[in-house]
Amino acid sequence: MKAIILAAGEGTRMRSDRPKVLHRVNGKPMLKYVIDAVREAGASDIIVVVGHKAADVQAEIGNGVMYAEQHERLGTGHAVMCALGYISPGDEVLVVYGDAPLLTAECLSGLRRKHKENGNGVTAVSVVVPDPSGYGRIVYDGKKLRIIEHKDADAETLEINEINTGVYMFDGGALLHALDNLRNENAAGEYYLTDTVEITENAGVYRSDDWEQFIGVNDNIQLAEAARLMRHRINTRLMASGVNIIDPAQTYIDSDVKIGARTVVYPGAILEGASVTGTDCVIGAGTRLVNSALGNGVEVWHSVILDSKVGDFTRVGPFAYIRPGTEIGRGVRIGDFVEIKNSVIGDGAKVSHLTYVGDSDVGSGANLGCGVVTVNYDGITKSRTTVGENAFIGCNTNLLAPVTVGAGAYTAAGTTITEDVPDGALAVGRARQMNLPGRAAKYLKTE
Ligand code: UD1
Ligand code: CA
Repeated sequence: MKAIILAAGEGTRMRSDRPKVLHRVNGKPMLKYVIDAVREAGASDIIVVVGHKAADVQAEIGNGVMYAEQHERLGTGHAVMCALGYISPGDEVLVVYGDAPLLTAECLSGLRRKHKENGNGVTAVSVVVPDPSGYGRIVYDGKKLRIIEHKDADAETLEINEINTGVYMFDGGALLHALDNLRNENAAGEYYLTDTVEITENAGVYRSDDWEQFIGVNDNIQLAEAARLMRHRINTRLMASGVNIIDPAQTYIDSDVKIGARTVVYPGAILEGASVTGTDCVIGAGTRLVNSALGNGVEVWHSVILDSKVGDFTRVGPFAYIRPGTEIGRGVRIGDFVEIKNSVIGDGAKVSHLTYVGDSDVGSGANLGCGVVTVNYDGITKSRTTVGENAFIGCNTNLLAPVTVGAGAYTAAGTTITEDVPDGALAVGRARQMNLPGRAAKYLKTE
């Protein structure tokens, strides 16, 4: 089976510079969903017809599919003509549109079965919808099947609520013949793919009963609707696998994210890209994970974690910011207003409050007190800081990188560390305090 996916249109109604089919639904471009569905249904050759900003579409979708180029947008029928080089009589050819991301492989397999059973030249998928406006209408004209576009429909036809979903199965020979005979005499002056149904001798309909999977996205309102339905689909699958999503309507999980059983996800959580969590985690309200991997039993509250890893039973947040390239070990405590970037934090370490750790290696069991700052950037170069195992970095210590604090060493609160501290040493680097008796009054306001 070959599949042709139409993706050359501009998507004017999106009012955006980005080609329509690259608009994202739960983190993934719409076209990618369609490609995945036709591949899952068994299409071996996938031909994507590109046109408007073809290079952008190809760059984002990559080399897993073939491309045909439609240089001018002369309609959906014309778009298929541009892919004819790939089609031979005798092929089974699936044609779908790239702007319908909810399409499922099950529907395509059902279509394929029905098409074969009936020995059709073309079978179009139809569905009855509550509001058919904008869609092509299915018209049974005696024995003849026709699809009449909204723009070309008379008042009586506009009443029909069985619509063309834009999903078709063709016999290769029938498709070649129909395209040869397409005309553009209609309201839009376009070559409509839908006219192939009228031209083909044995045309049939495969009627689906799930109208929501055929929502075509033409504007941002339909994009949000498609995202809502996709969210429902993703969250339902995760809940069935044992994830506890407290309010699925307000939980935003990308389609490729994996979540372990018994993990609890609170409202407002956003899990993106290739993020993975283990079992028994808590993903608290307002947490955002991007391409990050959490172990088992991890708790994250009101925090952002980007391109990083977090080990088993570690707690993060509330209000922590974990930036790319960070690896946090097991049983670590990362508290409030802590920022960590491109660093390794060993097992059991504690970074409990108001701390910046950048380009650092922190040993297991180390404790970074409140207000510790790794001074990793001197305005020209970035340097690394090393803190040994079980070291204690006192509150408000500045660690001027490159610098190493040895294992089991201790820095006094308020110290600025500019030289390496040997294992087990106490480092104190601050001015000695002076007390001037009675002098406070000079600085206090008196009424
Ligand atoms: C189309 C169908 C309509 C159906 C609806 C389902 C036609 C004539 N109409 O209408 O019957 O109910 O989809 O959603 O087919 N494209 C190209 N090249 C072109 C024109 C379009 O590649 O020259 C692509 C677009 O990028 C898009 C797809 O074809 O992905 C559908 O085009 P669109 O303009 O959205 O068609 P609709 O008006 O929605
Ligand atoms: Ca459309």
